[in-house]
Amino acid sequence: MHEKEILANEKSLDPKDWESLRQLGHQMVDDMLHYLKTQRQRPVWQKPPERVKKKLLQPLPGAGETPENIYREFLENMLPYQMGNVHPRFWGWVIGTGTPLTMLAEMLAAGTNPNCGGGDHVANYVEAQVLDWLKEMLRYPKDASGLLVSGGSMANFLGLAVARNTQTGSMIREKGVVSAPGKLLVYCSTETHSSVDKSIELLGLGHEALRKIPVDDNFKIKISELEKSIAQDKAAGHQPLCIIGNAGTVNTGAIDDLEAIANLCMRENLWFHVDGAFGALANLLPEYQKALAGMSRADSLAFDLHKWMYIAYEAGCILVKDAERHKQAFEYVPDYLMRHDRGLPAGPYYFSNLGIELSRGFKSLKVWFSLKEHGTAKYQKLIRQNLAQAKYLAGLIEKHSELELLAPIPLNIVCYRFVSRKVDAAKLNELNKEILMELHEQGIAVPSFTLLHGKYAIRVAITNHRSRKEDFDLLVKETIRIGEEKSKIIFDKMI
Ligand SMILES: Cc1ncc(COP(=O)(O)O)c(C=O)c1O
Repeated sequence: MHEKEILANEKSLDPKDWESLRQLGHQMVDDMLHYLKTQRQRPVWQKPPERVKKKLLQPLPGAGETPENIYREFLENMLPYQMGNVHPRFWGWVIGTGTPLTMLAEMLAAGTNPNCGGGDHVANYVEAQVLDWLKEMLRYPKDASGLLVSGGSMANFLGLAVARNTQTGSMIREKGVVSAPGKLLVYCSTETHSSVDKSIELLGLGHEALRKIPVDDNFKIKISELEKSIAQDKAAGHQPLCIIGNAGTVNTGAIDDLEAIANLCMRENLWFHVDGAFGALANLLPEYQKALAGMSRADSLAFDLHKWMYIAYEAGCILVKDAERHKQAFEYVPDYLMRHDRGLPAGPYYFSNLGIELSRGFKSLKVWFSLKEHGTAKYQKLIRQNLAQAKYLAGLIEKHSELELLAPIPLNIVCYRFVSRKVDAAKLNELNKEILMELHEQGIAVPSFTLLHGKYAIRVAITNHRSRKEDFDLLVKETIRIGEEKSKIIFDKMI
């Protein structure tokens, strides 16, 4: 086709028939609200069948088809086989539930479709407002700088990047880590999340630079061991850089002694980073503010909004106390991205200079909607409810001799297992793994798992605003039912 002809027939991706798309959009909203309202009536999880997986293997579409047909495929092949984390009995890993209004806010964000890297448009002012609210909620200094990111992993990575650059001085960006005077070291407990391991590797420090310090019986970092390790490394001529404290470890929800770590960082002139992926939000409750007091002393604080703030995926946040240090770690101003005094390239300091992403979606809108809808008062209630549910579940476990708690419960995570006199202790891991698989496959509940001192634990992490007391009654009843059935099979095989 000649250019002339093309220009005479210009197209766009907008619908030819806006009215039928409007009707389809209304149908989608109705269907999704119904889906969320009736969660409880469905299995928590259903394995995608082979038939469906095959149907998803399609050739690259050449010509297009109608939105109605595409949506029909979504309803048939996708909607029933989701992860299940919107269900009241989903408690796997630390995965939040989302809310109906954050779903709708996502539609508005995609509809307006701004790029929040920078510029004088309203989305950047919304992000600044949301960051100010988050600082206030977590009692973090007002003048700290921050950035909304995809989640806790990215937040940890960015916080640790600022730590590395600040502690090594201005040469690091130019010359890389080879310019450091000694081996750069980072300290954290053995219970720290794997996103920290990945970050350390990506920051060029090498995995050996991560000193994993043992924990006590409550899964908290042993401060005396931490001090010893730092002293030894310094004596060997290495350069300790940063200590990472946990405000809620991934396995059991342990909160490290953050005050002691803050004091040690001050004494040793080290950067203090806190991974508060979900635990940081407990700071909304006065009864947790003592345990989390050290958090406001952190140089950088990483946490998630899609976990214990129940915001639709994805949303996390990094806060950095010294805004200048934050800028110095990432700021880059090529000719085509210079901030202007007027026009669209004006506006607040560019968020793209506080992280590695230039193009950024309108994440703050769903957070803004949710905070305005519920206020901190409702968030306090819901977080307290999840904490009470964890205690309730622990109480049920303690009442049943067939079940055993495997860790203390400082926050919202309960680790337990089924124990049977009939089954050899060596077979308990296999048995509990089998119970977990059955809980999933029968669509009853989705806890996840971990190993605690070598014991396979069924792990219930409650960041779910839809769970009710009865859901935990059912979990306990079904764990025992499946446990008894499976141990009988194992026992029969043994004799
Ligand atoms: C303590 C902790 N830190 C970091 C992360 C990583 O967060 P995200 O999955 O949002 O990247 C998690 C995830 O569960 C976590 O529990």
